[in-house]
Amino acid sequence: MGRLKVAFVAAECAPFAKTGGLGDVVGALAAALGRIGDDVRVILPRYRSIQGLPGGGPVIATLDGGTVREAVLASGVTVWMIDRPDLFDRAGLYQDEKGHDYSDNALRFGWFGKVAAQLVGADGPLAWKADVVHAHDWHAGLVPLWTRLAGNGPASVQTIHNMAFQGCFPADTVRLLGLPPDIYRPDGAEFYGHLSFLKAGLYYSDAVTTVSPGYAEEITTPEFGFGLEGLLQTRRDDLSGILNGIDVDEWDPARDPWIGRAYDGDHLGGKVVNKTLLQQALGLPAEADTPLCAMVSRMTWQKGSDIVLDLADRLIGAGAQLILLGSGERTLEQAATALAARHPSSVAVRIGFDEALAHRMEAGADVFLMPSRFEPCGLNQMYSQRYGTPPVVRATGGLRDTVIPYGGEETLESATGFVFEDSSADGLWQALASALALYRRKDAWLRIQRNGMRRDFGWGHSARQYRTIYEKLVARKEKR
Ligand code: ADP
Ligand code: GLC
Repeated sequence: MGRLKVAFVAAECAPFAKTGGLGDVVGALAAALGRIGDDVRVILPRYRSIQGLPGGGPVIATLDGGTVREAVLASGVTVWMIDRPDLFDRAGLYQDEKGHDYSDNALRFGWFGKVAAQLVGADGPLAWKADVVHAHDWHAGLVPLWTRLAGNGPASVQTIHNMAFQGCFPADTVRLLGLPPDIYRPDGAEFYGHLSFLKAGLYYSDAVTTVSPGYAEEITTPEFGFGLEGLLQTRRDDLSGILNGIDVDEWDPARDPWIGRAYDGDHLGGKVVNKTLLQQALGLPAEADTPLCAMVSRMTWQKGSDIVLDLADRLIGAGAQLILLGSGERTLEQAATALAARHPSSVAVRIGFDEALAHRMEAGADVFLMPSRFEPCGLNQMYSQRYGTPPVVRATGGLRDTVIPYGGEETLESATGFVFEDSSADGLWQALASALALYRRKDAWLRIQRNGMRRDFGWGHSARQYRTIYEKLVARKEKR
């Protein structure tokens, strides 16, 4: 099959708009598909944060009260930004400055999805018609529905980046968005008395994907399916788990402009320099032999931030240092800040979003912590393997799929990190204690570091898996 025209519809795309892994994945996957020959366009709301771009981008279409502007990313990917200032010219992507979701998110993303589907559909204003429209997460969940309603348009794919966020809104949203009333039923987009954007995407798309094979299995069970496991079971034949890759140019210790000293698997000396710089920057004693444990994440229940806080005393008692970067639930932020105040020479906490510091922590820390209760894929455990900072992760979703566990001498040849099952401070401690013990054995530690640094986490393989799905859907459509 020749070059396919693929339209990504998403609320985030790095570097224009990012609050987490969604932004990284949309930007990097679009670029990777471009490299294997597909013609990918990313459709994104034009938030205030991207309005300051030089030139603002030419207007390529006007529809339903909005304008569409074009910009090109450094990767060569074309982005179409849908502009409607009353909906998107605001401080945040999803929330106001106080951390509250905007009360009109149903309208904001509902309207966005409708316009995106129109833009690239068969009857859209552009000469460019998508073969496949690929919706990411709940924000784009109505795109497969609008596409199905139009009838003559592209094939559709819905990707789940996180089942915990479903975009459920009052029933009245159906009318507000001009959707036909008959989609509002259990065999459709209704979910326990609400309109669920994610359920719409899962129900009306031609194929469903999620971001790791492990998570694809998990979400068909009640523990991880958040009420949609039944629907996912019925769609099992159309559901696949494709592991996320990472942007290996952006996350490369040998070429990372954010870090103090470049290094690679053969020359790990630079990592020690980064550790000293990091300890100094965060006000911790610059001790080369003290194990430095780091965590960069949203501070939420999902990520197990509370588990790390529960464990902190043991970690400090074992003579390690702890650094945390993140923001999220206020109580966790406050508890983390209080912990650092109690232990200023062992713990440093930075609340907020700081891309440069995230890179410096990957480069300067010895051990990376990811005790997630669930994790669709997770990116930091892959960054940390690439940076020679072995991760300690819980055995769930993409974490289980991407970390090769240390389990004694015979595993030293392949192990890249430490894996535990039990979602508790005790569970995490078991794995962390084993990491700290191995850290003292420099040769063994070096092997674990190098095993991780040698792995290929690039997007090539996964991009080809997406391509195979697109081809199958397009072929199926052509047959009809
Ligand atoms: P999720 O999307 O669930 O938050 P991922 O591991 O997939 O988790 O991706 C998180 C991304 O966001 C990573 O690139 C990580 O480095 C980044 N990140 C998260 N919190 C922060 C922060 N406080 N500062 C800088 N980067 C952050
Ligand atoms: C979500 C998930 C995370 C995943 C990311 C990108 O935010 O929580 O595990 O890596 O999306 O797919």
